[in-house]
Amino acid sequence: MVYTETACAKLNLTLDILGQRDDGYHDMRMVMQSIDLRDTVTAEERPQPGVSVGSNLRYLPTDGNNLAAKAAAKYFQTLGRPCPGISFRLDKGIPVCAGMAGGSSDAAAVLRILRRTYSPDLSRDELERIGTLVGSDVPFCVRGGTALAEGRGDYLSDLPPLPPCFLLAVKPPFSISTPELFGLVRGRHLKCHPDTTGLLAALRSGDLEGIAVRLYNVFEEILPRKYTQVFELKSQMLELGAMAASMTGSGPTVFGMFRDRQPALDAFHALRGNYGNVFLCRPVEREKIFPISV
Ligand code: C5P
Repeated sequence: MVYTETACAKLNLTLDILGQRDDGYHDMRMVMQSIDLRDTVTAEERPQPGVSVGSNLRYLPTDGNNLAAKAAAKYFQTLGRPCPGISFRLDKGIPVCAGMAGGSSDAAAVLRILRRTYSPDLSRDELERIGTLVGSDVPFCVRGGTALAEGRGDYLSDLPPLPPCFLLAVKPPFSISTPELFGLVRGRHLKCHPDTTGLLAALRSGDLEGIAVRLYNVFEEILPRKYTQVFELKSQMLELGAMAASMTGSGPTVFGMFRDRQPALDAFHALRGNYGNVFLCRPVEREKIFPISV
């Protein structure tokens, strides 16, 4: 049997860091949004035991360091079952090391495939708990939609969907190490924080303008000078008519929010001349990722 599952990218409408935890992680408060930029994960049972991972990108790890393989290992360990022979193939559409949770989303898609195949009675919460063992963003990627992520990023509350809009995501041609960026936050006093409460109210009333003015990522405050292209890109987005622009996750991807399609499309074409990774996206609702009836 062959199983396929879509793995959606995520954007951070907000990213706030509340403090450092005893376990070395940070307490977060983030509004996360799934978008229709996606990878496709295909799983096939095979006679040889063990998990194998392949992808259309040669440089991705194919061993236990790949989050998809780690997810499968954690799933069978947690359920106390022997791991059957399975090969996973990742067809990557989400850029790697972009702050859009591509690897975490592949891991989440693997967990949804394994649940569907071997344990359809396992609840979404239980599957998300396995996701926590793989990475902080994996539980959100299991669930999808629009959610408030707190704790390490794994304590989730469902939020009303983002009103219809266009999200233009551009990844500059460099990557930023997530642990390095968290390291720069340690011992620093962050001056600005997002108005998360205001953004939640704007989401509840479907006020896209109120959401746009509150997009904010605290990592931008401590971003080293060498990553100045992030700010140039934000300015370009605004000049091209975005309602607002922000970096997502630990970057370097910047996204702009547009109410209407045509200005978003014009901005897409303008930026595509200068950047290789430009994606015009729409928000994806929770039910499309983890259907309530399954
Ligand atoms: O959980 P994950 O493996 O994705 O985290 C990658 C790194 O990001 C961690 O090793 C840690 O340095 C940092 N991190 C953090 N606090 C979080 C999430 C991640 O410090 N809430």
